[in-house]
Amino acid sequence: MSVTDSLGTTAARRRSAELEEQIHKEPGRFRVLTGDRPTGRLHLGHYFGTLHNRVRLQDLGVETFVLVADYQVLTDRDVAEHLTEYVEELVLDHLAIGIDPDRATIFAHSAVPALNQLLLPFLSLVSVAELGRNPTVKDEIAHSRQAAVSGLMFTYPVHQAADILFCRANLVPVGQDQLPHLEVTRTVARRFNERYGEGTPVFPLPDALLSTAPLLLGTDGTKMSKSRGNAIALAADADETARLVRGARTDAERHITYDPAARPEVSSLVLLAALCEGTDPRQVAEETGSGGAAALKRRVTDAVNGHLAPIRARRAAYAQDRRLVRDVLRAGNERARAIADATLRDVRAAMNAAY
Ligand code: TRP
Repeated sequence: MSVTDSLGTTAARRRSAELEEQIHKEPGRFRVLTGDRPTGRLHLGHYFGTLHNRVRLQDLGVETFVLVADYQVLTDRDVAEHLTEYVEELVLDHLAIGIDPDRATIFAHSAVPALNQLLLPFLSLVSVAELGRNPTVKDEIAHSRQAAVSGLMFTYPVHQAADILFCRANLVPVGQDQLPHLEVTRTVARRFNERYGEGTPVFPLPDALLSTAPLLLGTDGTKMSKSRGNAIALAADADETARLVRGARTDAERHITYDPAARPEVSSLVLLAALCEGTDPRQVAEETGSGGAAALKRRVTDAVNGHLAPIRARRAAYAQDRRLVRDVLRAGNERARAIADATLRDVRAAMNAAY
């Protein structure tokens, strides 16, 4: 990691801590936008990384927008397979964890034309050189399965600025990899205000709310990810969970300890049990001790299945009624459209293009 990266992250952490305090005092001052690409069922890494933070913010009284970033699926693949199914899975996962469609807005950005139209003036505010410097995009290009870099891949952080600014969200809960994108959003908002705002800013400069969640590893000891086949899906049943945990990689040392640096695989299992039980990982390790990996895995399985049981039950109930899922999305799309139309009107007025 470069010096500027780590400094940027340190500053973002400090700012996030301040924001947490303000959120607790005045949740009504904030509007959150978060989003995911619909590429399959969400897993425990998502859940402890961001999802349960979304519910927490919603329940604190922060107005919440949950974006299904369906166009963004096309950044690193030529065709978006199973798109309808994955979009519905994403909505289901959110309903299951407790996102309340009466309070939160769940929508797909392809269904909100005015949001996408913002991309046009926004693209005029960033240079090609700036786009080329984005470290997260560079990394994605390096790992892309595509032969050529598409214009969408290159510009998607600007699209993401439209995702955030269309509803004038001022708070975006993210992981570290999304910090460069949030910088693009702030740059776009600042430049738009400077160029067209005439003293009255059209857009807020949104803040990143950095996740404090520790990283969960997949069952093979690498980052938990849908595409690596090492993830435990929220929607997995108890037996599938037991099987996946049983197959998880550990190490040759019998005695269980919590030491993420030296024993990443074992420690990630310990952490998973602790997160589900709401206890401390050191305590889980101590209590498991000489029971070894088999005892640890039994505890992890029980903890995960216990913690997820109500979420899975809710998910199964919603899954019975796909029409309800589609209705939630339709209502969210409509609400998002009304907001995006109003924002686009303001943008056109600011640009002297209201005729
Ligand atoms: N880029 C995000 C991801 O891949 C998804 C996303 C799209 C997003 N638009 C957003 C996240 C706006 C936060 C805000 O996970």
